[in-house]
Amino acid sequence: MATGRLYQRQLMEYAQDLARAYREIRASQDDFLSVLVTLVELKAPAARGHARRVAFWALRLNDALGRPLEPAALGAAARAHDVGKLALPDRVIASWVGEDDEGRELLATHPQLGASLLEHVAAFRGWIPWVRHHHERWDGAGFPDGLAGAAIPLGARIIAVANGFDYRMHGYGRDPAYTLAGTTAWLEQQAGGAFDPELVEAFVAMPLEALWANRLWLEEVQE
Ligand SMILES: [Fe+2]
Repeated sequence: MATGRLYQRQLMEYAQDLARAYREIRASQDDFLSVLVTLVELKAPAARGHARRVAFWALRLNDALGRPLEPAALGAAARAHDVGKLALPDRVIASWVGEDDEGRELLATHPQLGASLLEHVAAFRGWIPWVRHHHERWDGAGFPDGLAGAAIPLGARIIAVANGFDYRMHGYGRDPAYTLAGTTAWLEQQAGGAFDPELVEAFVAMPLEALWANRLWLEEVQE
């Protein structure tokens, strides 16, 4: 009886150790992504908060769809989607969307660059395709592989919508910020073009105004 109890306690301790080790591994992966994202933001102040906001909207959209994807994986991919820009010359990163043809051509390589950087971490491999394909378009006219429709992994399609929303709401490069109504209209216009129409429908059906107002804490948390 005493041995049985001892054995049970030992098992409990092993389970707790394992859970702790798992949490620590998870936390160091998140920390590692934070290092990369912070580096990107230091080199491109115009993009400050972009990765965090895209992760926020991607996770809300995933929830609205009934969570088809594991939130931790989607959140990580959404935060990391642009880290490939780190491999480009500083002036190109700082411009964020490119100031000339050469800059834009270089920037178009960032999804593959990001995927190949992140591949060094075995634990990321499940969601790396979502980084690689976040600039594919539903109509097949995107990059890097010209995938179309459902051939684009769902995680990449979700990140694309969240990225588009943040892009329009904030304005980058020479593109001005849109209002919420203007951004919503633009997303709807792009349904079936740039974006998966079902995802756009689910996105614009979310309580965007309330989410937009509440999202302010996101900015403050990292100030
Ligand atoms: Fe991107």
